[in-house]
Amino acid sequence: MLTAGLDIGSVSTNAVLLANGKLIASVILPSGYNHQETAERAWQMILQQGQASAAQLKTIVATGYGRYNVPFASKQISEISCIAKGARHWFPDVRTVIDVGGQDSKVIKLDSEGYVADFVMNDKCAAGTGRFIEVMAQALQLEVSALEQEDLLAASGAQISSICTVFAESEVISLIGQGVARPKIVKGLHQAVASRVGSLAKRLKLEEPLLVTGGVAKNQGVVVALAAELGLKLLVPEEPQLVGALGAALIAAQE
Ligand SMILES: Nc1ncnc2c1ncn2[C@@H]1O[C@H](COP(=O)(O)OP(=O)(O)OP(=O)(O)O)[C@@H](O)[C@H]1O
Ligand SMILES: [Mg+2]
Repeated sequence: MLTAGLDIGSVSTNAVLLANGKLIASVILPSGYNHQETAERAWQMILQQGQASAAQLKTIVATGYGRYNVPFASKQISEISCIAKGARHWFPDVRTVIDVGGQDSKVIKLDSEGYVADFVMNDKCAAGTGRFIEVMAQALQLEVSALEQEDLLAASGAQISSICTVFAESEVISLIGQGVARPKIVKGLHQAVASRVGSLAKRLKLEEPLLVTGGVAKNQGVVVALAAELGLKLLVPEEPQLVGALGAALIAAQE
């Protein structure tokens, strides 16, 4: 049986195709401005990769912020449920998931059966999200993918005290002006994100094993800073951006 899951996020559109629960195709695309068109493109790409035809699929689950922009989806499911499902599939014992995406961060607690027991979310402010990091990377003339290497070059981070993204950006520009080394600024930014995500996470009673998902989990600098902030060991899946889409496809398989 073939099932598909599409996660249309504010930054990335992720799609997976499963054959009897086994991943046979996946794609990660920038969501761009036309979410419907990107969803359609991601869909065609996984069908081609998996050598499948649309007619073979009965259930297609869409999730993420843009989940209602997927006209061919048979069902829409919240990102919380899909992330929980995907996380448990790759890490069967996981009890807490911290997802740091482009425009929000969420912390999900799972019970011993894998059901969502509780969650908290920050979707009001860019601080503690991928967007914050993107703005700062731009100010520092670095690609987001280059940040973790830069972080490794610093022994300690610069102090970034503003919580607001706009003020923090001014602070970064002023640190650049003062001649503070770029790696030190980058480490300071990672610590600032970790502190924001950490305070969100501490609102729940955190239990290990703890998994970090979402695009920001691709940045080991943030993951290391967050582990230090929480004093807990953090696991990261091989493809942290695919967890929601994987969960969506697994839910599709249950339907
Ligand atoms: N290669 C990379 N290295 C480091 N960070 C990355 C990389 N790719 C993406 N990111 C970060 O991940 C963020 C996007 O995360 P993700 O793809 O999970 O967002 P999303 O699911 O679209 O957003 P949301 O769930 O908030 O709607 C970017 O803003 C960026 O900061
Ligand atoms: Mg997301």
